[in-house]
Amino acid sequence: MRKFYIETFGCQMNVHDSEKVIGTLAARGYDQVESADDADLVLYNTCSIRDKAEQKVFNRLQEFKRNGRGRTFGVLGCVAQQEGEKIFERAPHVSFVCGSASYNLLPQLLDKVEAGDRRVTGLSLDTEDTFDTPMTRRDNPHRAYITIIEGCDKSCAYCVVPFTRGPERSSASTTVLREVRELADRGYTEIQFLGQNVNSYRDPSPAGLNFAQLLREAGRTPGIRRVRFTTSHPRDFGKDIVDAISENPVLCNQVHLPVQSGSSLMLASMQRQYTRDEYMRRIEWMKNSPRNIALSTDIIVGFPGETLEDFEHTLSLLDEVEFDSIFSFKYSPRPNTPALKLEEQIPEDEKGRRLTILQEKQRAIQLRRNADYIGVVQEVMVEGYNKATGQWIGRTSQNKTLNFAAGSGETAENMLGRYMDVQVLRAGPNSLVGERVN
Ligand code: SAH
Ligand code: SF4
Ligand code: F3S
Repeated sequence: MRKFYIETFGCQMNVHDSEKVIGTLAARGYDQVESADDADLVLYNTCSIRDKAEQKVFNRLQEFKRNGRGRTFGVLGCVAQQEGEKIFERAPHVSFVCGSASYNLLPQLLDKVEAGDRRVTGLSLDTEDTFDTPMTRRDNPHRAYITIIEGCDKSCAYCVVPFTRGPERSSASTTVLREVRELADRGYTEIQFLGQNVNSYRDPSPAGLNFAQLLREAGRTPGIRRVRFTTSHPRDFGKDIVDAISENPVLCNQVHLPVQSGSSLMLASMQRQYTRDEYMRRIEWMKNSPRNIALSTDIIVGFPGETLEDFEHTLSLLDEVEFDSIFSFKYSPRPNTPALKLEEQIPEDEKGRRLTILQEKQRAIQLRRNADYIGVVQEVMVEGYNKATGQWIGRTSQNKTLNFAAGSGETAENMLGRYMDVQVLRAGPNSLVGERVN
């Protein structure tokens, strides 16, 4: 039996791609092992979104420079696509480099790798196909990812994704909905639709569903109790999505809508294709929903040319929206992107200073917002158990972590994947603590 090891970096799309790669390898007779030391084939599914992420994979490869003999190394994902054959020069023990747009060629490429070919590449972005495989190996038996759209056709000035994942390609709604039904039949209760811009979805099948319609259909599948989706792009975010959520509680009351900056000037130079006001209109739709939709976002500080005034606009946006959570980053210059050529790059320490201010502000907002849940009963899906605290880990429809006590005698077997009501007793900035109610 041949053994493989895979390590995944980056976003949920990468995590799900790896599930498909693992399924493909298992169907070829490979066995997955937990340590690269025990593997014949070592794969890294990589991320290139910021420089730090990219460096991680080269550090990993460096570890094997001397003692990698006898093993085959492959680099998959976004760094593979971005660096291409240069990886063979930089890490001569790598013999396989493949970007996500070429994964449907994996069987042919693996034939070559197994035949001992030292420079196997899958680097074409010229594809109309999505990576659909019946061999997906899903780790979580309750919650399943489905990629409904791959690639990105936007061209945000700072971002590598359009270069690393190729053009937008959507899966047919008939295929997506069949998969939802099959997953429900196999006992899955939560579905997460994935895409770099999930709401830019364009159904290639004759049904011609738009994203909101696809959500509505998925939400009507018997057995499915929760449907989430990420990431939404503000430009393509229509009110029909909010209406669908308002009307069906199976569609989770949680939306991740990356804003990047609160300054319309910065949004323009980032080429985001919306203004602050347009973004705020979408937030208003959600605030007016009866469902109390939890909001999260991504923010970049220190984009070239960001003045203190621009940064103040981002801070005021946080106050105005009161997000439930944010992911915030220092701008990281990336290869091939238009922002590289912009003048007025912001010094690293100034980016760090702004990031700290932003995160401290947001922490206070989250503490305040989460305190509103004290005393409230929320339904959670049980995701795990924390031995150290003796608490079960639950997730609410709003995607908040709610840790709770459930009385003795419960086991992982009868708890994981179950839905139950929990009353919130305490609130921190990043999670809630509670107690199961009957
Ligand atoms: N497609 C999604 C998100 C893609 S990447 C969207 O458009 O919203 C996830 C996040 O990484 C982005 O939202 C952005 O905040 C951040 N990011 C992307 N490129 C970056 C860069 N060069 N430097 C810092 N952060 C970046
Ligand atoms: Fe990157 Fe912009 Fe595409 Fe998101 S929409 S993946 S930030 S280019
Ligand atoms: Fe990273 Fe590629 Fe995802 S760059 S964030 S793994 S699309």
